[in-house]
Amino acid sequence: MLYNLLKFVHVLSIIVWIGGMVYTLFFLRPSLTPLAPAQRVQLMHDVLGRFFKAVLYVSTLALFSGLWMIGRVAKQTVQAGGSFAWPTSWLVMTVLGVVMILIFGHIRFALFKRLQRAVTASDWPAGGAALEQIRTWVGINLAIGVVIIAAVFLLR
Ligand code: HEM
Repeated sequence: MLYNLLKFVHVLSIIVWIGGMVYTLFFLRPSLTPLAPAQRVQLMHDVLGRFFKAVLYVSTLALFSGLWMIGRVAKQTVQAGGSFAWPTSWLVMTVLGVVMILIFGHIRFALFKRLQRAVTASDWPAGGAALEQIRTWVGINLAIGVVIIAAVFLLR
């Protein structure tokens, strides 16, 4: 029961994170091109500020629920007299999941800070440049996320 609850929290967190990246990159961002730079940069700053706050929570939840599930299975296996071996898909997920979290840290605490400074200074070209960098790294994180999901479902 607890295992299923952890998995539910884990998958729900991932849905919010991956779904938010897809929505931002492929639906929101292209729809804002007709706006003036000042409006576009300010709107993206507001949207990303909210989204990144949510990602801070869901990425933490995904990490701890994932590690907790691994810990439970490892403990049960050892208690039953066996030795725990990492399934390939779990190993791929853990390593790449941590890479995604580190990349998110760079996006939130370096690039988004740059965007915040540009908005405060009403420096729209600098804001646009920061948004471009955020877009690149969010795209990379999305690609890694898709690789993880493929590994989880195809490497069974
Ligand atoms: C951050 C480190 C992570 C750890 C330690 C971790 C660990 C785990 C574990 C132990 C399970 C249970 C698998 C099972 O019961 O067979 C699981 C399920 C899952 N994880 Fe992760 N995970 C992490 C990050 C991620 C990320 C970043 C994604 C997607 C981008 C992801 C997607 C999934 C999915 C889709 C499942 C459900 C698979 C299924 O049982 O059908 N995980 N994870």
